[in-house]
Amino acid sequence: MTEQRTVWWEDGRVRMIDQTRLPAETVILDLRTDAEVAEAITSMRVRGAPAIGVAAALGLALAAQAAAAEPRDRFQERLAAAAERLRRTRPTAVNLFWAIDRLLRLASDEPEPAAAAERLTAEARAMVEEDVRVNQAMGRHGAELLPAQGGILTHCNTGSLATVGFGTALGVVRAAVAAGKALHVFVDETRPRLQGMKLTAWELQRDGIPATVITDNMAGWVMRQGRVQAVIVGADRIAANGDTANKIGTYGLAVLARSHQIPFFVAAPLSTIDFALLDGSAIPIEERSPDEVTHVGGVRVAPEGVDVFNPAFDVTPAELISAIVTEVGVAQPPTRDTLARLAKQTDR
Ligand code: MRU
Repeated sequence: MTEQRTVWWEDGRVRMIDQTRLPAETVILDLRTDAEVAEAITSMRVRGAPAIGVAAALGLALAAQAAAAEPRDRFQERLAAAAERLRRTRPTAVNLFWAIDRLLRLASDEPEPAAAAERLTAEARAMVEEDVRVNQAMGRHGAELLPAQGGILTHCNTGSLATVGFGTALGVVRAAVAAGKALHVFVDETRPRLQGMKLTAWELQRDGIPATVITDNMAGWVMRQGRVQAVIVGADRIAANGDTANKIGTYGLAVLARSHQIPFFVAAPLSTIDFALLDGSAIPIEERSPDEVTHVGGVRVAPEGVDVFNPAFDVTPAELISAIVTEVGVAQPPTRDTLARLAKQTDR
């Protein structure tokens, strides 16, 4: 049986699980336009770098199909407008831009709009399948890094829901457990959107992997108690030198892990590495609405008018990362050279 996907193409529509409704209910959305897909990305109905990339590609395929009967110039104009709309949704996850550029390159090679629309759709659908294969490969490489038994701490959601299926960092945990390792996962709640408590805990429960939810500020104490043997997280954008942007709170975890001599791993596909950026200082960091901080479950808990800072991501310097796991192998330690060597193994 094929595992439930997070986002996919069906009968000329984009379908996805609405992650804002989990874990209370599993609602499947039917999206018919690139504007609807853009809205779903912005409002985090679909989230997680790889899932956002695939969703954007499928959204662009919808736009191409809608414009397939137009003359070439008009087709290209409409495609460019859809690409722009999708690019504006979330700035940090580079997979979004990688996916859009991959499709636009194809469109520019094909002069006939109807044929271009078909090629774009086939490519976007191929990206759905590719994502699962890539994650499974990452799982195989990463599983070896985890201990035979013990506690693993993770942050945000990097599972099936953050990808099309299987997951990145959580995929590594799943692969390690499938290989017989006796792991217990400490799940950071992940303020302010609670992806850990709502999504990661839900996925681990369904998989029957032992898990304990902690609030973000408990991580240091749990490490101090000797209950964590490794930390593994995902990434939204990795600079050429290995500096890694991921969910806000990741940097603090890396500092804590170093201080407790616990290995700190990142798992991400090569599509998350932005070789155009020399280091993490150039990674754009999304800032989201103050309401995400001042409200809990839709109820205001902060005083009216209080100042709020709400960066959605932070950047962990490469020197705090023990290894970066990709689908073609492991960069250990992550440096400009080890990462470039991995990239050379593909056609990137
Ligand atoms: O804001 P989100 O939920 O999209 O952030 C997701 C993360 O930070 C994940 O760790 C990252 O995208 C890697 S997911 C495989």
